[in-house]
Amino acid sequence: MKKGMVIGLFYGLVLLMGTMNYMSCAKKITQEASPITASPPAPPSTPNPPTAPATATAPSPPPQEPPFVAAIKEKIKGKEDLPAEEVFENIKVMKGVKAGNILPIMMEGFNKSLGVRCSHCHARGNWASDDNPKKQVAREMWEMTGKINKELLMSIKNLESAQPAIACATCHRGKAIPKVE
Ligand code: HEC
Ligand code: HEC
Repeated sequence: MKKGMVIGLFYGLVLLMGTMNYMSCAKKITQEASPITASPPAPPSTPNPPTAPATATAPSPPPQEPPFVAAIKEKIKGKEDLPAEEVFENIKVMKGVKAGNILPIMMEGFNKSLGVRCSHCHARGNWASDDNPKKQVAREMWEMTGKINKELLMSIKNLESAQPAIACATCHRGKAIPKVE
């Protein structure tokens, strides 16, 4: 395997692990939130929208993925194992990551870790475009995270874990702007 691929796989795993860590920590953080840091009470909820008339016929279909997700999967069909840069149009930092891992990284690693939607980083209607400056921020965050994992953490002695690692979620905890305290 090429070095890039190994690193790519590692990143993908780290991102997913980070998400899971985040999910398991999220509850704790909410419980521990002090009155000062706690978010303001939610606005009064709007009454439930009127429910659609029940259809007496077919049972409800399985939950469907959004059309844009289906479209990306369709685009990479059969090419999931190729390096992302050979399948997508504008890959700069995720070179060597399998094309099939890009969508999971976007959905689990990015959307969930930062608590944002795809449009936080992407210009509407064009995934390859760099018109949204947050996309470049995310690229540099990706490299920063890699550097922390590959260089900085590795050089600290006497850590508990054999392979200490961080991910986007380690800092972001479901927020676009991480808290300082
Ligand atoms: C935190 C920012 C961020 C979020 C949120 C995000 N992306 Fe991305 N996305 C990126 C970055 C950065 C790249 C380019 C990676 C690179 O240069 O190697 C990218 C690349 C892509 C590409 C490849 C485009 C191409 O042809 O080059 C697709 C497709 C994509 N994202 C889909 C999505 C989808 C779908 C979502 C929501 C589920 C999403 N992204 C959410 C930052 C983000
Ligand atoms: C070591 C902590 C840390 C890690 C790890 C980290 N970030 Fe960040 N991120 C920050 C900080 C700090 C900011 C700046 C917030 C501000 O503007 O005050 C930020 C800002 C961002 C922004 C801009 C948000 C906005 O709305 O302006 C994006 C996008 C982003 N990070 C994506 C990522 C992604 C994707 C990853 C994982 C690949 C990641 N970050 C990993 C600390 C981190």
